Amino acid sequence: MKLFFLAFFFAGLASCGAGSGKGLDERGLPVKTDDGNEPENGVTLAQLQQTVFGTICTNCHTGSNAPRGLRLDSEENSYAFLVGRTADEIPSLMRVNPGKPDDSYLIKKLEGTNDIVGGRMPLGGPYLSQTQIDLVRSWIANGAPRTGTGIATTKVARVNAEKTDANEKPSQLTVDIHFSRAVKFESITPESISVFYTTVDERKLLDNFSLLLVDKTLFITLHNIPTDAIQIEVNINNSELNPLLDQNNQIVDGDADEHQGGGYRYVYTR
Ligand code: HEC
Repeated sequence: MKLFFLAFFFAGLASCGAGSGKGLDERGLPVKTDDGNEPENGVTLAQLQQTVFGTICTNCHTGSNAPRGLRLDSEENSYAFLVGRTADEIPSLMRVNPGKPDDSYLIKKLEGTNDIVGGRMPLGGPYLSQTQIDLVRSWIANGAPRTGTGIATTKVARVNAEKTDANEKPSQLTVDIHFSRAVKFESITPESISVFYTTVDERKLLDNFSLLLVDKTLFITLHNIPTDAIQIEVNINNSELNPLLDQNNQIVDGDADEHQGGGYRYVYTR
């Protein structure tokens, strides 16, 4: 696990360079793990088959009588029955829509969102951990490749915001952004990640936050959010300057259009 920490105070940006080099080789590339995999570089279907589909789901999704005709009993079947295939329960959605985890029925069924038909999967539980679901999200965001970790652009795979104080209108908030591949710590700058807040009559830069990068997840903790703030916005690649890079030095695809670059915006309403 890689862990980087940086406190940002934009008045006088203190980029202490903490963690630079940690887990990276002399060329700044991620150090390979023993089995030659680069887990930060995305997840493979083979890994998902081994840890999720082939072990947990095959209790039911096996053979010709598999529920909803969805067979997950081999890597080939999981690919063939998931990727680009119409969902039985909601035919306007694909089970896996490559590049779009939020529009994939599989993710809705795993997270138990309130727009699904039938039960949350695995039916009857125990349900997958968010970490396991994030692996599936990353695979989909990376284009749901049949083999390898894919050549699709690196995207935001999931965002979550949590209050870190008890106030109804939080003065502290942690926004975690989960990327489909690890991002490059050194590319995190006030241009690549910026936070704004809006009040009834203005939009201002919020410059009091700290950042923690753990593998593929960036935790942004916002402190002392002004009491009159109505909305808080986290922007990635808001300007073309110094964009956010992944570990392969590819620009993060903020707008998920399969081309490098483009802005991503997350809005929290207080
Ligand atoms: C205990 C049996 C059981 C297990 C385990 C199980 N499922 Fe299911 N699954 C079902 C049944 C039954 C349905 C159809 C009824 C429903 O959706 O509630 C279903 C439906 C689905 C659907 C909807 C398919 C469509 O096209 O409409 C998806 C997606 C799905 N399961 C994925 C999974 C995944 C992924 C796992 C493993 C993490 C899993 N299921 C584990 C029984 C199971």
